[in-house]
Amino acid sequence: MIQRTSALRSLLGPLRVPSLSSKISEYNWYTSQAASSLQEVIIPCASSLSGDDEYADVDWDNLGFGLTRADYMFIMKCFKDESFQKGQISPYGNIELNPSAGVLNYGQGLFEGTKAQRTEDGRILLFRPEQNAMRMKRGAERMCMPSPSIDQFVNAVKETTLANKPWVPPPGKGSLYIRPLLIGSGPILGLGPAPEYTFLIYASPVGNYFKEGTAPLNLYIEEEVVRASPGGAGGVKSITNYAPVLKAITKAKGRGFSDVLYLDAVNKKYIEEVSSCNIFVIKGNLISTPATNGTVLDGITQKSIIEIARDHGYQVEERRIPVDELIDADEAFCTGTAVGVAPVGSITYQNKRIEFKREGQLVWQELYSTLVGIQTGRIEDKKGWTMEIN
Ligand SMILES: Cc1ncc(COP(=O)(O)O)c(C=O)c1O
Repeated sequence: MIQRTSALRSLLGPLRVPSLSSKISEYNWYTSQAASSLQEVIIPCASSLSGDDEYADVDWDNLGFGLTRADYMFIMKCFKDESFQKGQISPYGNIELNPSAGVLNYGQGLFEGTKAQRTEDGRILLFRPEQNAMRMKRGAERMCMPSPSIDQFVNAVKETTLANKPWVPPPGKGSLYIRPLLIGSGPILGLGPAPEYTFLIYASPVGNYFKEGTAPLNLYIEEEVVRASPGGAGGVKSITNYAPVLKAITKAKGRGFSDVLYLDAVNKKYIEEVSSCNIFVIKGNLISTPATNGTVLDGITQKSIIEIARDHGYQVEERRIPVDELIDADEAFCTGTAVGVAPVGSITYQNKRIEFKREGQLVWQELYSTLVGIQTGRIEDKKGWTMEIN
């Protein structure tokens, strides 16, 4: 079956669609050429579409945070010292990389993460994608890479989402996670910025990030492995920040914890963040979160929750939080695009387990409900955070 979607047609203009017999060979050709400049777009068999073609054939009730490959990706290239011009939507598939690509040898790469949500009345909303664009720009500067302009980034996110519309889960079942990448794709042997760069976006429908679902997380404070140090790249979404913490995560998970909370590298005294999310601590009316001063990623969810909490009358402080303060906290929670807002039930530090409130009226729930309400169109967006794309 050859599937053309009206959204794609309006997006891409006239399409060249292969005959059934030529489909497979053309698709193979296409994926092997995906990284080169493309003039035509071939839409392969969308066998995964369900009967009414409105939704892909996915078990929406059992989505976790695994890769369910949506049909299309966006790809755009440019040379060092030049700027990105125009990208293409193409079928999701492997990309070719030279073995001496900068990203493979020296980790010259950034990623981003944003989500599209379907509203009850069938609209599709993005959440603050220009913030991801700006963060990628800051990261690219740090990693000596050219980056797409804010408009190019946001338009590419829109195009990727529209192309993958059947993969945006039904309301209440999850979201389409959109993953932009910026990599040094050109070959380089000696250490230096790569001669060519690729900006790519793929997408996957997702449900809860943690296997705990919305149950409270049990975090482990790591004292040996550090995530980021002053002057490093902890404050940007460099791919090099993630593999080095796998060891600590694996150890913590092996002991039954949900994830790791890292301390500052210099004093090992202040809490910084979790492997892929920011952390908040609540005491009475005061909500505190570690300041994003170069070693902590400036989360878009963190920023949004700070604003919502202030709107709700809480005092919010972005500051250094000594680990000893955790003992007195009422509640703790994590924030991130993938994670959403996740309550923390306990934090274990030096073999002592600090427990937080899990029942009754919980502040994290109040903030979460407002954030998700805005993201899914249930609450009027007075802040201009959402972007309707259909
Ligand atoms: C290390 C780290 N901290 C925090 C976050 C949360 O950032 P955001 O809310 O922009 O997704 C992420 C995820 O992107 C992350 O990887």
